[in-house]
Amino acid sequence: MTLITIDYGNMVASNLSNGGIESERLDTDLAVRFRQAYESVEEDKVSGKMGFFDLPHASDELTIIQEIANSYQQWLDNVVIIGIGGSALGARALKDALLDSFWNEKSNKDRNHCPRLYVIDNVDPTTVRNLIGNIDISRTLFNVVSKSGSTVETMALYLLLEGLLIDELGPEKARDHFLFTTDPTDGPLRVIADREGISSLSIPSNVGGRFSVLSPVGLFPASMVGINGSELLSGAARAEERCKTPILKENPAGLIATLLHTAHIDYGAFIHVIMPYSDRLRSFSGWFQQLWAESLGKAYDLRGKVVNTGPTPLPAIGVADQHSQLQLFIEGPRNKAVIFLAVTGEPDASKVEDLEIPCHRKDMDLLGYLGSHGLGELLDAERQATAEALRLNGRPNMTLELKKLDAESLGELFMLMSIATVYAGALYGINPLNQPGVELIKDLTHGVMGRPGHDAPNFPVTDIRWRI
Ligand code: PA5
Repeated sequence: MTLITIDYGNMVASNLSNGGIESERLDTDLAVRFRQAYESVEEDKVSGKMGFFDLPHASDELTIIQEIANSYQQWLDNVVIIGIGGSALGARALKDALLDSFWNEKSNKDRNHCPRLYVIDNVDPTTVRNLIGNIDISRTLFNVVSKSGSTVETMALYLLLEGLLIDELGPEKARDHFLFTTDPTDGPLRVIADREGISSLSIPSNVGGRFSVLSPVGLFPASMVGINGSELLSGAARAEERCKTPILKENPAGLIATLLHTAHIDYGAFIHVIMPYSDRLRSFSGWFQQLWAESLGKAYDLRGKVVNTGPTPLPAIGVADQHSQLQLFIEGPRNKAVIFLAVTGEPDASKVEDLEIPCHRKDMDLLGYLGSHGLGELLDAERQATAEALRLNGRPNMTLELKKLDAESLGELFMLMSIATVYAGALYGINPLNQPGVELIKDLTHGVMGRPGHDAPNFPVTDIRWRI
C-alpha cells in the first residue's frame, strides 16, 4: 500500500485562473518529454552511474550496520555526526522526523537506552565549543561522514575532536571513539581507517553525497537511535517500484519533476517552495533544498552549451510562514510553484494524536468557535486554506500527502524526491550528479588555508569609497 499521494490538481489550467499547465499536455508533449527523460535516466542506471536506485535492496549491508550499531550501545551516551551537505542533512532529517523533538533531553530510560544524537555540519567555533562543553566526549562516538574523506570542514572538525580525545584518553583509546563513513577505497579517511584499524562503513562509490541518505550515511545514525532501517528501505523500495514506468501520469516522481520543470521553463515559476505542514518535516526541507539546488543548478548542459539553469528551492513552514512569506507567494511575482507536504493521518490515528482545544470561552464569538476542534485539525484546515488562496490567485501548487509519518513513509519520500531530482536533471538537460560550482569555493579556501598545490588567492581589496 502506498503511503504517499500526490494531488496536482492545482498545477493544471482548469483549476487555476491563469498560469496552470494545460492538462492535455500530460498526454501529449509532456508525456513525450518525460518518456525521453525516463529513458536517459534508465541508461544512466544501467551504466551504473545512479547507485542510489539500488540502496533499498541492500539489506545485507543493513544487517552489518545494525550489528555495528548494537556493538556500541553498551558504553556510549552520545553519537555525534560530523559531516556537511549530503553527508549531514539526511541524518538531521531522519532525526527530526522520527525522534521526539526533545530526544536529547530525555532520560536514558525514556530513550530506550539509545544514545543522544547530534549533527554538526558547520565549523562555527561557538557551536563546537557548546557541544564539547556539554557532552562527555569519553562516552561519545563521533561518526565522521565524508564520501571524499577530505572535505575541509569535516576534516577540520575531525582533527579537532581527535586532538581532544587523544589529550583526554591517549591515542589508543581515542580511536574507539570514531567511526568513519566514507568511500570504500579512496580518500584520507579510508587510508587512516585501513592503517589504524578505525571502524568504518562504506558509501557505495556510485552514490553521491546528496543521494546517500539510504546508505550507511543515514542508516547508521538511524540504527543507533532505534529507527527501523528495514522500514526505511521498504518504503524506498516502494517508491522505486512505483517509478518503474515511462508513462508520465503513472510515475509519481515523473509527475513531480515534469510539473515543476514545466512550471519553470514554460511559466516562469523558477522558485520551488517546499512547505511542510509538520514541524517534524522542517529538516526534510533542508535535505530537499540541497538535493534540488546542488543537482539542478548548472552552468552547462550535457552538450557543453552554457545554460546557467536551475530552479531555486525555497523552504517554508506551515503555518508559521502564512504570517511571513505567504503574502509574497500569493500576490508577488508569478515566479513560484509551491509543494505542500501534508501528514493527513488515518481518520482515527489523527484524532488520537490531536490536541483538543477546550470550550471554556464559548461566550466569546472570536474565541468560542475554536472549542472542541483539534490543533492538528486547525493545522490541516490552514493548509487547505493556503492551497486554495494560492489557487484563487493563479499560483500553481501541489500537495504530497503522507498518510502517516514513520520510517516507511519517510523512506518512500526520500526515494521519491531523489528519483524526481534525476528526472528533473534529464528534463533540464544537465548532469544532476556533479557540483562543479562548489569546487571553486573549495579551491579558494584551500589556497587561503595553505593546502599544498593550491595558490593563495588575491582577494581584491575593496576601495575605501565602497565602504561606509
Ligand atoms: O551532495 C554532495 O555531493 C555534497 O553535498 C557532499 O555531500 C558534500 O560536499 C560533502 O562531501 P563529502 O561527503 O565528500 O565530505
